[in-house]
Amino acid sequence: MDLTKYYTAFTTYLQAQDFKREPKNLYEPVDYILQLGGKRIRPLLTLMAADVFTGNYKTALPAAMAVETFHNFTLVHDDIMDEAPLRRGKETVHQKWDINTGILSGDAMLILAYQYFENYEPIIFRKLAQLFSKTALEVCDGQQLDVDFETRNDVTIDEYINMIRLKTSVLVAAALKMGAIVANVDDTQADLLYNYGLHLGIAFQLQDDLLDAFGDPKTFGKQVGGDIIENKKTFLYLKCLEIAEKVDAEKLQFFFNQKLEDNSIKIEEVKRIFEQNDIPNITTELIESYTNKAFDFLTDLNISDEAKQALVDFGNNLMNRKM
Ligand code: IPE
Ligand code: IPE
Ligand code: MG
Ligand code: MG
Ligand code: MG
Repeated sequence: MDLTKYYTAFTTYLQAQDFKREPKNLYEPVDYILQLGGKRIRPLLTLMAADVFTGNYKTALPAAMAVETFHNFTLVHDDIMDEAPLRRGKETVHQKWDINTGILSGDAMLILAYQYFENYEPIIFRKLAQLFSKTALEVCDGQQLDVDFETRNDVTIDEYINMIRLKTSVLVAAALKMGAIVANVDDTQADLLYNYGLHLGIAFQLQDDLLDAFGDPKTFGKQVGGDIIENKKTFLYLKCLEIAEKVDAEKLQFFFNQKLEDNSIKIEEVKRIFEQNDIPNITTELIESYTNKAFDFLTDLNISDEAKQALVDFGNNLMNRKM
């Protein structure tokens, strides 16, 4: 199965949207962030989900646009919350404009996302809106937990996994289920796809956390070490704390209780401790394990073997990404 057909269909649809509206200071940032690109993983999954059931993915384009617009809204607000300077290799919205612009342009994107559901008849509209509202609230729950964890010293790995399920996985899962809803398949089938997405989403966020520390600044597109600067209690940190000798563990805890002006030594030291404790490999193994769990949910799907293989390939490609 060829992913480029979804990619092309989606970007063509996106280009046809008119975000060059007034007031400029509200819509220019919307246009800016949506045109910055990114991997477009969520809309691709929505289109692919509809396609594997019906062979027709074009009817899922408004739903795909809704999910990508919502995702970009979360990024604009997330970058404010994480004080991130870079997104997709360019300045973040609040850095290029200001925080107030980021807040309101983000709000507008959330509303624009919902408007795309108006393209569907009432029964489908209701199902999409229900799933979307539930998912959007879960993302807020996850984002709040992520922030709460920054200043907590007793976060467990289970709590971390639950937090990333909420802030990231449910949207990946919902993107797939939205495609299934548009395709009008029964709930059992739609939920298998949802669960595939939920496990893939956990692997995806683990990989994001790994790349945040060990990615190549040339390809990653975000500030490398951003999570270390912000004292994010990621799997890398929590696992390392669990297995490291006392000296390393205490050093790690010391650094993660500071907010510094100059972070170069903190980043260097934390990465050295992570590497010394084999954290990159341990994280990669967990990513593989969640990806394989995701594949288990494909077995009972009533779709062609070719379509299942496309979903397996998608998962495997995500694991090898550099951005
Ligand atoms: C970034 O999502 C936020 C996370 C959930 C890690 P993506 O990595 O999908 O971002 P883009 O859209 O490709 O830039
Ligand atoms: C992102 O988590 C989750 C959401 C945007 C909802 P991160 O904070 O790790 O995402 P990046 O690394 O900034 O893309
Ligand atoms: Mg962030
Ligand atoms: Mg964040
Ligand atoms: Mg991240």
